[in-house]
Amino acid sequence: TKQKLWGGRFTGKTDPLMHAFNQSLSYDQRMHAADVRGSISYAKALARVGILTGDEETRIVQGLELVGEEWKSGQFQVQPDDEDIHTANERRLSELIGPLGGKLHTGRSRNDQVATDMRLWLLDEVEEIEEGLRALIRVMVERADRERDYLMPGYTHLQRGQPIRWSHLLLSHAFSFRADLERLEQLIPRISVLPLGSGALAGNPFAVDREFLARDLGFTSIAENSLYGVGDRDFIIEFMMWASLATTHLSRMSEDLIIYSTAEFGFVTLSDAYSTGSSMMPQKKNPDSLELLRGKSGRVFGNAAGFLMSYKGLPSTYNKDLQEDKEPLFDTVDTVSACFRIAEGVIATLSIHPDKMRQALTMDVLATDLADYLVRKGVPFRETHHISGRAVALAESRNSQLNDLSVADYKQLCDKFDDDVHDVFDFEASVERRQAIGGPSRVMIDRQVSVLRAALEK
Ligand code: ARG
Repeated sequence: TKQKLWGGRFTGKTDPLMHAFNQSLSYDQRMHAADVRGSISYAKALARVGILTGDEETRIVQGLELVGEEWKSGQFQVQPDDEDIHTANERRLSELIGPLGGKLHTGRSRNDQVATDMRLWLLDEVEEIEEGLRALIRVMVERADRERDYLMPGYTHLQRGQPIRWSHLLLSHAFSFRADLERLEQLIPRISVLPLGSGALAGNPFAVDREFLARDLGFTSIAENSLYGVGDRDFIIEFMMWASLATTHLSRMSEDLIIYSTAEFGFVTLSDAYSTGSSMMPQKKNPDSLELLRGKSGRVFGNAAGFLMSYKGLPSTYNKDLQEDKEPLFDTVDTVSACFRIAEGVIATLSIHPDKMRQALTMDVLATDLADYLVRKGVPFRETHHISGRAVALAESRNSQLNDLSVADYKQLCDKFDDDVHDVFDFEASVERRQAIGGPSRVMIDRQVSVLRAALEK
């Protein structure tokens, strides 16, 4: 049958198992549009330096457009000998326009071609991922804005600590996602570096105008060193590391909500749309969406760690090990995109139970406020901490709460206590005292909501 594009120096045939082992078309065909775009620009660049006549350029560009159409409409026929998206597209181009198709690859290598395709493809995907992340943050901010009335305990070590607003908790996760959004935007200039024109490794001998290529393809900068241009996959590792952190944030938020959705907490209920049942226990409604969100972070970091291991120790420029960048990257892109969409749906449809949150607010979460009361009367905090601790112990020994102790009891613990000590035992007041930037008071919820809204508008 037809020879391989690189078949000139070969007399023997490829072992079929080796062909299957070597091929990447089964998965890199999803970059078909990027590959066609890169080739169209390259054909134009070749024409600009006289390697192609204007007429040849037109026929090649039209041929490539047809190839692109075939992919889009599902008409593209993969042939058994096609190795990857680059060889498949070139093979098809030559079928469509004849031997002229063979001029396209002048001065180009699959090495600069694949690096260009990957970057172009990822830039498009990053835009979509950014949209998904923004949509998630938006839903969280809107909920936080509406649900600021509800108080709940804030936890450290999963032990009740101090009262906060439900909105404050929700916003804390939204701020992690805002940081992820910033980090993602900061990756873009490092993805947007043009490799095309680097050749196989030693640059382009036909003086193609790489500034033209960069402009035409929308890259913001040009790989200034051809060895770097074909050999660098940092942008892929960086993106997968980014995704590892972003999905880890999703995992931590999910864990909070999984705990809060247990009957023991009962703060939230997942909608049916994001829960599943048990095949045996009829009463079960399990938070599978959140568990999957928690679990996916492991998979995404596995992708990053796996490819980093393949990358480590490679000699300069292109080695076939680099083909191992694709499946982990594609899986990471698909996984994070799905995760953001699911998380958005879970948050948008979650029911909350403010009464349960309120019931979980026991008086002991005001022990810090009790200590602060004495601070305001001039007692050093280290002493007030101790006195408040003794009040907690006294209440506990009587099987009662801090607000059950009498003013006389308090005066016994410290003579700075006054009749107004019972004003301390007010959860709303405690939260509202936290007026410094970053606190759970209403004004600070307002501030957080506007900071995040402004970030989303950028
Ligand atoms: N399919 C290859 C990859 O994904 C394309 C580059 C092949 N280059 C080469 N010199 N064999 O990495």
